[in-house]
Amino acid sequence: MILAPSLLAADFGNLQQAVEMVNASEADWFHIDIMDGVFVPNISYGMPILSVIHKHATKPLDVHLMIIDPDRYISTFAKLGSDILTVHYEACTHLHRTIQAIKAEGMKAGVALNPHTPVALLEDVIQDIDVLLLMSVNPGFGGQSFIENTYKKVRQAKALIEQVEAHALIEIDGGVSLKNAKALVEAGADALVAGSFIFNATNPTQTIAELKKTVL
Ligand code: DX5
Ligand code: ZN
Repeated sequence: MILAPSLLAADFGNLQQAVEMVNASEADWFHIDIMDGVFVPNISYGMPILSVIHKHATKPLDVHLMIIDPDRYISTFAKLGSDILTVHYEACTHLHRTIQAIKAEGMKAGVALNPHTPVALLEDVIQDIDVLLLMSVNPGFGGQSFIENTYKKVRQAKALIEQVEAHALIEIDGGVSLKNAKALVEAGADALVAGSFIFNATNPTQTIAELKKTVL
């Protein structure tokens, strides 16, 4: 299982320290949430913060764009060191073109689905994508409760991927904790994002190790 701590829940006054904690931990990727205040009702952080993260990070950067019209920024995010660039299905009129543009910039392409968006809508692009991100909360904020319907969507995503022998990884984002990590992986999830559960813990490094161990 790939574990991607979300830096949205980190202490931005000590960002370098948070990045170094993740570097030294058993975590696999950095999950970076970019919000524009339009696609979602919140504004997180943008390019200057991403460049600081990139400067210190020694693990892949998994960048989750919660922005409208993401095509405008694909090359900017490539230059800022993004390894995986995930856009929302709901924000892309020409999703196929957007996916190709991400890959043309040398990044892995991810597509995220809001909790209300059916997995079946990805049928015609599933073979083109590297990551299928299922939102298990409504995007915009950390610290929300996990939506139980996600398990069903993980099983549907897994079936869709196997049916056409696609290679996309299934990533789950929102409300992930030790309560649901094991069941999510058993349902077919390959990657888990966790923000507040890690950064609000007394010992984040140990919490990362516990999450990794629970699904070995
Ligand atoms: C929510 C973000 C998540 C968020 C997860 O819009 O996409 O990545 O940081 O935070 P937790 O794990 O606290 O739900
Ligand atoms: Zn996210």
